[in-house]
Amino acid sequence: MTGTEFPALRLRRLRRTPALRRLVRETRLSPEQLLCPLFVRPGAGVRQPIGSMPGQFRLSVDELVREARELSELGIGGVMLFGLPESKDPRGTGAYAEGGIVQRAARALKDDGSPLAVVADVCLCEYTDHGHCGVLEDGEVANDATLELLARTAVSLAEAGADMVGPSAMMDGQVAALRRALDAEGRGEVPIMAYAAKFASAFYGPFREAADSAPRSGDRRGYQMDPPNAREAWREIAADLAEGADVLMVKPALPYLDVLRRARQATSAPLAAYQVSGEYAMIVAAGERGWIDRDAAALESLTAIARAGADIILTYFAREAASWLS
Ligand code: PBG
Repeated sequence: MTGTEFPALRLRRLRRTPALRRLVRETRLSPEQLLCPLFVRPGAGVRQPIGSMPGQFRLSVDELVREARELSELGIGGVMLFGLPESKDPRGTGAYAEGGIVQRAARALKDDGSPLAVVADVCLCEYTDHGHCGVLEDGEVANDATLELLARTAVSLAEAGADMVGPSAMMDGQVAALRRALDAEGRGEVPIMAYAAKFASAFYGPFREAADSAPRSGDRRGYQMDPPNAREAWREIAADLAEGADVLMVKPALPYLDVLRRARQATSAPLAAYQVSGEYAMIVAAGERGWIDRDAAALESLTAIARAGADIILTYFAREAASWLS
């Protein structure tokens, strides 16, 4: 018994001053590990505020390029692009059109020489008129028919300059389908960040307003995961790894830290976590009411997500967090 218990052991000693606390800090956040989700829309000079996500905007391509310059000056790692197309149809053709809105945005960022990692979300829900993440057959989202369209989307985004693609439709076999198509089209160098464990979450509400992507009928429970299932989440992650995913994502983040932790213990592959729109909106709303300290709550949440095991964090606080961290 030498120093291993009270009174010799006094854990408060290392908390006494900011300098000591800094020295023994176990989790360090850095702007480089943050990916900032951005919404791109048609037009020029447009910065349209998103009601459900104060501080976030739908940006036209030129404004997006300006935003990206500022983000890279702040040391942020990259952007995750979501698109609002000019028009929608049952097969989501806007997702894989050569002149599609995200394709144009990716090209513009590359033409601008942006040093950011440009990641493009691969899904159909923003592009289909029914709002589901795949094509419908007899009122159901048809898995295998959707795979081909997701693969086309990924190839077209890679051709437009995306550095990484992020399939988020939760179709079985989507990672394998994307990998095969990218390799066949000479885009074997483009990594896949799989939304591997993506839950059917109420916390996506504000995003669906932002991206105009709410399903017109029904919900996504037939393809996104059932929130109570952690063991199944690991099966999803393992399946995506086996199909060739380069980065695995858990989404949402804070309500699913157990899933993230379990993945961290089971794989050495890079892990990402997505602090989703509802997580952002809750902190912002409570902060606006003076009920919590907005910035401190945001930073604490991001730290918790990193502590649980995320290497990469997708967050709408990216820009602000970068300035708090510098
Ligand atoms: C597309 C997609 C969604 C989100 C990211 N990609 C919406 C959904 O699945 O309904 C949600 C992100 C957020 O809430 O911030 N499938």
